[in-house]
Amino acid sequence: MKKAVQFLIWVLPIGIIAQNALFIPDTLSGNSIELRLQSGQVEFYPEYLTKTMGYNQDYLGPTLMLNKGQSVNMHVINDLSTSTTLHWHGMHVSAKNDGGPHTVIPAGNTWSPSFTVMDQAATYWYHPHLHQHTEEQVTLGAAGVIIVRDPEERKLILPRTYGKDDFPIVIQSRAFSADKQMMIQTAGDDVILCNGTRDAYLQVPAQVVRLRLLNGSTERVYNLGFSDDMPFYQIATDGGLLNAPVSLNRLILAPGERAEILFDLHNVEGKTIQMTSYSSELSWGMYGSSHPSMMPMGSIPGYGQNGLNDRDFKVMQLTVVAPTENPILAVPESLITNKPYPISETSAYRNLIFTPEHDEMGPGAMTNGPFEINDAEFDPNIINFRIPLNNTEVWELTNRTAIAHPFQIHDVQFYILDINGNPPPPNEQGRKDVVLVPPMSGTVRFITRFADFANQETPFMYHCHMLTHEDAGMMGQFIVEGQTSGIATTTKPEITLYPNPAYDQITVSGLTPGIISVYNANGQLLETRKSEKYFEKFQLSGLPAGMYFFKIQEKDDIQLLKVIKN
Ligand code: C2O
Ligand code: CU
Repeated sequence: MKKAVQFLIWVLPIGIIAQNALFIPDTLSGNSIELRLQSGQVEFYPEYLTKTMGYNQDYLGPTLMLNKGQSVNMHVINDLSTSTTLHWHGMHVSAKNDGGPHTVIPAGNTWSPSFTVMDQAATYWYHPHLHQHTEEQVTLGAAGVIIVRDPEERKLILPRTYGKDDFPIVIQSRAFSADKQMMIQTAGDDVILCNGTRDAYLQVPAQVVRLRLLNGSTERVYNLGFSDDMPFYQIATDGGLLNAPVSLNRLILAPGERAEILFDLHNVEGKTIQMTSYSSELSWGMYGSSHPSMMPMGSIPGYGQNGLNDRDFKVMQLTVVAPTENPILAVPESLITNKPYPISETSAYRNLIFTPEHDEMGPGAMTNGPFEINDAEFDPNIINFRIPLNNTEVWELTNRTAIAHPFQIHDVQFYILDINGNPPPPNEQGRKDVVLVPPMSGTVRFITRFADFANQETPFMYHCHMLTHEDAGMMGQFIVEGQTSGIATTTKPEITLYPNPAYDQITVSGLTPGIISVYNANGQLLETRKSEKYFEKFQLSGLPAGMYFFKIQEKDDIQLLKVIKN
């Protein structure tokens, strides 16, 4: 295999790079789905094994095929030696099934949520949401695509044969160290992976083809287009089909966002088409845009050295081959009828203001963060908003920083009312769960409705989907309150400590009021703390490596839990 690759490099004319066939994940469907998060290794570079993680495989996970209205039992098995969670991004599920930071799956445990799929046909995704560790786990590969189908979509003449004329494409930029390990918290993300494949090409049939694009990157925004400015048609946003296909030759895709696009390739068999990110055209403040040294983006350490910033770079290549049997040969005229919530039904307006932490100014703080929402960093013990069940609300997001932030809300899909006071472009007029909020006092207003899933116990999240920002606290949470809240279950949560082994800090999660005492291996008491919160954090940085014990005394329970400090 390795020989073959080298041979290709040898014989190809100069200027053509050896390429790898795009990996297409297997699919899982049915009423019972097992996802096993495990560590793996991948040879992204010949002779180097990169440590990764994935679901049921080494990197990324299978594509889940779900039908609206079906019920599904998920079995998420955590085979890692550290905690995780699993969030169904974009799906309308109850807070306790949502897999947010409060629903920790300790190492070695299985989490089995069951729910009914209530979502419209679209492309969703799954990924961990562990408080302060989302970037690390997603970077190493913990993510996968979810395709939901529904009767309305099925009635349309659209490509939907997975892997034949309908392809998932997870676009990620990654930073590799000199020994080809994936790095986090760096602006050195200069390698593009599509479905985990470097330098990918995909053979597509000469007919109408559907690509389900997901930006699974940590921070990078893409400005996608194709060779010769070939037009394409966006048919779906994050959470549903558009009213009609929207013809585009550029598509901005921010972290967490999805877009389904169609191409009409029926006359171009034999052609090679590049998918490029025209990042030189990105507006100022979007991660990946230009960085003249006096401008704030230049203040992100390493940003100016990253060869993808302010350049146009190849994302992947499409090679048009012979059509399949019964090909689809036309892009439909219209799709579905979206019914945005009427503004007249609004019962609450909320303002969310993004700032650098503690209102620090200067280009560094304005682009690097850490950032806050409404002057607060995420506190798992504080409920930021209590939302009455069935409320229709308008949320206004104001970005007083120098970088564009992709804002995501759980539980619901929303419709954008305006961006900087202007109606959203036609391809953003569908159902959304992520919106890129422009920098320098940019504003976005959206309207949504909080139907279903009142629950006092478990909150839903909203946050920036730049995973570095999210992990650093650019997140908040809300509870949907309603009649059902009184009968919320009161089963005691399981106490977990993570990460374990730990380095400088450890989080104890699942607490009820009580007393926590920390002992070293000799039984010496190091710290006692009265805990009132769900999470408590302990600093370990001053302590020697070794074994420590956390004694947790709650109402009628005492537990002794062991931690390794490295
Ligand atoms: Cu895709 Cu709250 O995460
Ligand atoms: Cu952000």
